[in-house]
Amino acid sequence: MIIHHLEKNNSILNKFISEIRDKNIQKDPLRFRRNIERIGEVLSYELSKNLNYSETKITTPLGSKSINLHNKKIVICSILRAGLPLHQGLLNYFDDADNAFISAYRHHPNNDAEFEIVVEYFAAPSFDDKILILADPMLATGQSLVEGYEAIKKQLNIEEIHIVSVIGAREGIEYVKNNFPENTHLWIAAIDEELNEKGYIIPGLGDAGDLAFGGKL
Ligand code: URA
Repeated sequence: MIIHHLEKNNSILNKFISEIRDKNIQKDPLRFRRNIERIGEVLSYELSKNLNYSETKITTPLGSKSINLHNKKIVICSILRAGLPLHQGLLNYFDDADNAFISAYRHHPNNDAEFEIVVEYFAAPSFDDKILILADPMLATGQSLVEGYEAIKKQLNIEEIHIVSVIGAREGIEYVKNNFPENTHLWIAAIDEELNEKGYIIPGLGDAGDLAFGGKL
């Protein structure tokens, strides 16, 4: 896996990351969602530099001009529900992409510390000959990304895979690396060292779904 860890280079991205982590600022759900969306926009821009481009002629009212445009259809696939603001950020830039959604949740059959990922809903276009952008804001254990990929893999012929994430834990990144093709790109804003016993990223930011959309039963 080719890892692009963007926080390593100083940029305005770090301000957006600091605001989603900050326990006072993150309390404002509108700001939290918009910051995740802004991070999605920055990650899209960086990812776009890695796509294939071909020369295209554009006609203006006064003449014509050639410009290089990326030339493959993209499918953005997100894991519900925390993935929605990140999905919107990606779609703001890749505005003609197709879209896919997977619902995956942590099922705790016995206790809080043990869980399995259950995929219940999958709505997607064809992936044939397209570039897949798989978005998951919190790459904790990596299990939901891998389960999501297993669901998609059944419709093979994916040309190129890019994973986009906001904060990841080293352990989850390693798990993803071991379960995706070698040439997969990971575009990630920030990397943290640890997971706690409940599978939360430490220091992370807390529960991204709850911060964006409120608590759930
Ligand atoms: N999902 C979250 O929202 N936060 C984490 O730390 C891990 C998974």
